[in-house]
Amino acid sequence: MPAITYELIKQDEATGARAGIIHTPHGSFPTPIFMPVGTQGSVKGVSPEELKELGAGIVLSNTYHLFLRPGSQLVKEAGGLHKFMKWDGAILTDSGGFQVFSLGDLRKITEEGVTFRSHIDGSRKFLSPEVSMQVQMDIGSDIVMAFDECIPYPADYAYTKASTERTTRWAKRCKDYMTSPHQGLFGIVQGGMFKDLRTRSVQELVELDFPGYAVGGLSVGEPKDLMYDMLDHTVEQLPKDKPRYLMGVGTPDCLVEGVMHGIDMFDCVFPTRVARNGTAMTWQGRMVMKNAEYTHDFRPLEEDCDCYACRNYSRAYIRHLIRSNEIFGLRLLSLHNLRFLQRFTREMRQAIMEDRFGQFRREFLDQYNYNSK
Ligand code: GUN
Ligand code: ZN
Repeated sequence: MPAITYELIKQDEATGARAGIIHTPHGSFPTPIFMPVGTQGSVKGVSPEELKELGAGIVLSNTYHLFLRPGSQLVKEAGGLHKFMKWDGAILTDSGGFQVFSLGDLRKITEEGVTFRSHIDGSRKFLSPEVSMQVQMDIGSDIVMAFDECIPYPADYAYTKASTERTTRWAKRCKDYMTSPHQGLFGIVQGGMFKDLRTRSVQELVELDFPGYAVGGLSVGEPKDLMYDMLDHTVEQLPKDKPRYLMGVGTPDCLVEGVMHGIDMFDCVFPTRVARNGTAMTWQGRMVMKNAEYTHDFRPLEEDCDCYACRNYSRAYIRHLIRSNEIFGLRLLSLHNLRFLQRFTREMRQAIMEDRFGQFRREFLDQYNYNSK
């Protein structure tokens, strides 16, 4: 039995939206799913008990960060990341391929891998498909991501072609190195904004037969229409019996469009990052809690939300905490935003199960204020 399996429960007839279940060695969870991001082995300000309570079945962590600090040997010595951070749900680790490439001039790419300077102490480091796999094996994540290059936008055809071909060769090296039977390795489709390169990337990765596929290199600054066009083109070629993960996407409008195009998994720092800026996510758009309109507003953030913040506190109180720079205010907003996305994905799933996802999408887009994001 492979470590990671996908069960397709229902596909919406009118759109491509899917409801499924992903099984991992650390439990099963329903899809579509949003994965909270715990870059350094902690979802900022939120305990594992709270993550459980708000309905998270899987969290994301990062090879790049744990590799630099505290080092994967220490995580291994602790008995793996699940034990180290006391989280018994599933963990997915990104490969470092994204973080390293965001370093700009501080890195050098060769066929072998990437040399870069640590953002912590400036020391020289090296990541390659093999190093990334070793680190992710030490960490013991349930879902391991292949080491890839996330191509910046815009990029020309020649660069995109060369980079995508290298990413495919790296994916093969990842597969050869990853020997753990308790971990599932996902391939990452690249190809930039060129359909023929996306097609080749999909075909060559599918030939390597991964237990799941991610769509990478999107939401990198391109117009939304272009992103959805690339997504549509990519997803329709992916196998139906494997999970599909859209990397780095987490605003409600992108989630709805992603699900409509047949995506099952999402991750983004968005909900926790905007929480730390004092922003609450709602079905109508974002609420900036510093605004004067909430001064005397004793309603919860959202009337129908069952999160810890909404069960116990008012907008007026949270506004006061944010204005006073109280950590508790940021924590309450993180709990709410993460719960919001769990409710949001659950509602999407329900709509798919009842063959009304198209209607759900229209109603959501009607009430959602884009300008507030
Ligand atoms: N996170 C967001 N986009 C990407 C991507 O293209 N590759 C990886 N590894 N992580 C990502
Ligand atoms: Zn809430």
